[in-house]
Amino acid sequence: MIVYVLFTALTGLLVLLLVHLRNPYFWKDAHYAVTTLLIGVRLHNFRKRKPFYSILDCFLDKVAKQPEKKFLIFEGGSYTYRQADQESNKAARALRTHARLQQGDTVALFLGNEPHFVWIWLALAKVLVAGSELKGAVEEVLPDLKQLGVRVFLLSDACDVEGIESLSDKIREASDQPLSAQLRANVNIKSPALYIYTSGTTGLPKAAVINHERLWMATFLQSIVGIRSNDIIYIYLPLYHSSGFLMGLCGAIEKGITIVLRRKFSASQFWNDCRKHNVTVIQYIGEIMRYLCNTPKRDNDRDHKVRLALGNGIRADTWAEFLQRFGDIRICECYGATEGNIGFVNYIGKVGAIGKEHFLHKMGSPYALIRYDTEKEEPVKDSRGFCINVPRGETGLLVAKIGHRTPFSGYAKNKHQTEKKKLRDVFEKDDLYFNTGDLLKIDNEGFVYFQDRIGDTFRWKGENVATTEVADHLLMLDSVAEANVYGVKVPGHEGRIGMAALKLKENMDFDGNAAYQHAKSFLPSYARPRFIRIQDTLAVTGTFKQMKMKLAEEGFNPVIIKDPLFFLDDNKGYVPMTQEIFNSIADGRIRL
Ligand SMILES: *[C@@H]1O[C@H](CO)[C@@H](O)[C@H](O)[C@H]1NC(C)=O
Repeated sequence: MIVYVLFTALTGLLVLLLVHLRNPYFWKDAHYAVTTLLIGVRLHNFRKRKPFYSILDCFLDKVAKQPEKKFLIFEGGSYTYRQADQESNKAARALRTHARLQQGDTVALFLGNEPHFVWIWLALAKVLVAGSELKGAVEEVLPDLKQLGVRVFLLSDACDVEGIESLSDKIREASDQPLSAQLRANVNIKSPALYIYTSGTTGLPKAAVINHERLWMATFLQSIVGIRSNDIIYIYLPLYHSSGFLMGLCGAIEKGITIVLRRKFSASQFWNDCRKHNVTVIQYIGEIMRYLCNTPKRDNDRDHKVRLALGNGIRADTWAEFLQRFGDIRICECYGATEGNIGFVNYIGKVGAIGKEHFLHKMGSPYALIRYDTEKEEPVKDSRGFCINVPRGETGLLVAKIGHRTPFSGYAKNKHQTEKKKLRDVFEKDDLYFNTGDLLKIDNEGFVYFQDRIGDTFRWKGENVATTEVADHLLMLDSVAEANVYGVKVPGHEGRIGMAALKLKENMDFDGNAAYQHAKSFLPSYARPRFIRIQDTLAVTGTFKQMKMKLAEEGFNPVIIKDPLFFLDDNKGYVPMTQEIFNSIADGRIRL
């Protein structure tokens, strides 16, 4: 018997060793598999559990378990889990009495990153199924709101604007005693938890419906990347977007950890805040990591306790520079959209990848990369009218099957936009997929790379130009701090020609000659930016993604654009743009 057990154990070890040699990521893959399986089981239980167990119930459990642990640190003050619970009880009671909220009402939270955002959202979860919906500046739209029967409350003790009621006084007077769970008895896993406006890099912002199921899934990301109960997370991303709210705040509640909340991102204060509060986990998105790398070097750059960075959108060059400068921080790059039904996690830490394929993941949420025609802006179809999988290593459009476990809730009251994100008859008649709008590539080892977003690619002289790729090359120039590449229309030409908005490093000038030599060595002629526009700041969305549409519309007319403008003259390199050049292009004397 003992011999048999020993033999089995040895064989097992040998098999593991062989697998490990063949697959260097074996242990991390296995760890990821176990973690996702456990999370799958939890989610399954949540789906069946009655009454429904929401993130609020999870919060209340933490309050019971660790009442005196710090929950929120904000501008010199802090609140324990118990205090946060009491604050939200008061807000819930005030709202219940004075706003006479009913189950199913929608509430708009027009608030920045501050504790009240958290209390009121928790309060809303305590009194009813409520979505927090962001609306434009309130006073401006007040007449419209009135007409729609919307009541407006202001977080102040008094308010003299007619039609706006004060709330702070009412919250202060309300009791901090718990509210009956009966108030939310009808909430289930499919009930909307909130609406989140997508940032709208390529189109207008749309309100994505986030139900409790989706909220739980996003929340588990912190467990997947290995955040521990003694971690301290720094949240500066807007709480009205999914990164800050779902992955940050709700994830922190699920883990029961301490949050350091900041009103707004500040590159100069970032590391000071981390040092002051012993922050161990940071979030990033879009251009944030580049902003941090662009700050002047300091002696204490590595003096901090940050061990993990969670986010998405870091480019490979920034990634390497960030590690070299700020030390050994595990960067966990993830991919996913607020409204999407698919995500990837780069749990290995491979520089440049947004995720890694995993067979379990693929079983749970089927997805595919399909061939896409960037000119016609639609998927390529085979002779039978179905989409075509791209071979490994090639770029394709990511689509994810919409199903029971991978639902797509769409956008609130916007059927047209919701339908636009759905693809039918992808691989068989009547199947249904979510169109992510993202072009990805998956290599032989299963690492997933972001290539481009549809709409971020433009065509010139029959060739596709990927804006991110061109931007990466421009960023190699010594003087360039940030680069935003887009295509502009030229009279009498098909397609769009490349243009770049650049932000220069402090006290640096644009070196037209160096830029020209660089573009010539690294980029094919059709991809070289013909026009360069120097700006003091490059516009980004609330989630720090670059805005291209307005820049593309403004074009390259020196009468309209007051920023320094340069033109790539084939013989001379980048020269200052003049009205004369503009006119010559317009009437065809200069051929592009
Ligand atoms: C941060 O950690 C150090 C030691 O590790 C401790 O002395 C200090 O009090 C901590 N700071 C805060 C704000 O908790």
